[in-house]
Amino acid sequence: MEWAKTRPAARFDLAISNVLGCSIDDLPGAVEALALDGRNDNGYRPLLDAIARRHGVSPARVTTAQGASGANFLACAALLAPGDEVLVERPGYDPLMGAARLLGAHVVRFDREFESDYAVDPERVAAAITSRTRLVIITSPHNPTGALADHAALQEIGRIAAARGAHVLVDEVYLDAFGEPMPTAALLGDQFIVSSSLTKAYGLAGLRCGWILSSEDLAARLRRARDVVDGTGSIVAERLSVLAFEHLDTLAARTRALLGANMPLVIAFLRSRPELAYVEPAGGTVAFPRIPGVVDTARFAERLHTERETAVVPGRFFEAPAHFRIGFSGATSVLRDGLQRLSSALDARAWE
Ligand SMILES: Cc1ncc(COP(=O)(O)O)c(C=O)c1O
Repeated sequence: MEWAKTRPAARFDLAISNVLGCSIDDLPGAVEALALDGRNDNGYRPLLDAIARRHGVSPARVTTAQGASGANFLACAALLAPGDEVLVERPGYDPLMGAARLLGAHVVRFDREFESDYAVDPERVAAAITSRTRLVIITSPHNPTGALADHAALQEIGRIAAARGAHVLVDEVYLDAFGEPMPTAALLGDQFIVSSSLTKAYGLAGLRCGWILSSEDLAARLRRARDVVDGTGSIVAERLSVLAFEHLDTLAARTRALLGANMPLVIAFLRSRPELAYVEPAGGTVAFPRIPGVVDTARFAERLHTERETAVVPGRFFEAPAHFRIGFSGATSVLRDGLQRLSSALDARAWE
């Protein structure tokens, strides 16, 4: 995260995984909806209702949070005590480990493998879980590879976790950017907790509208955890978020059009580069190729930036240094130019 927040700007930025940000005009009625007052002690009621309706759950199962980041932290805060174990997928999104560690938990890893298209493998979870495990954390679609977790595998992991009294946190922040509507893991059973937000799939990072779907009992604990983490959300943002849910189908169509134009470009790029090994993205906003024979893409990413004004995320930030992550959810013209520059950097063997 520190790298993401401090890196120099790039003209062709393929390091971002958010769908291109909306402007105020993409949210009709936004200006009129601005108001500074209103009750949102346990989440703004119309927002809880909108999130619940969208996912087919009761509002009592919804907790609002500051983005999916806040949602993940609240889930960890409600469930973890010092010395507990947390199983986290590898490669993985660093703040998920960071949140657990900050709470004094011990992070144990299980692998999602390139050779099996980064599928989640219940056997790996079964091999790593112990009586001290309180939480298993999975992203679906997976950051950094974009792979979707199969629900049968998740159900099996749910059974393995439940047998130990543990929960399964599925971060679905990229799910609505997958292309077609995908079911949420929140409906798989009470041991599942789902986190998400309007950031990635809808280009609404500025609202910081995140949520957690959980059992009602756990939701009550999550709200009490929120009391000491950040109290409540911003009523201003929560009102605008309700408006976003009213227009969610239009926003989703905007995302589909953008990714519908962009994904073929990234797939054509990957197929055109025989020196890359990759799992072709089936949806989402990222791809995670590697350059076989190159142990660390840090130099490649650095030269790509300094010599060709193009940014990708070096794989070391996901504990997979031979890879790099290409985000393809920005403006199509930027992606097209960025991919050309990526090709020319590969032609020039810019990792040397
Ligand atoms: C897996 C995952 N979860 C959560 C987030 C953060 O989302 P938000 O902006 O909603 O806090 C990210 C951002 O990169 C992410 O990759």
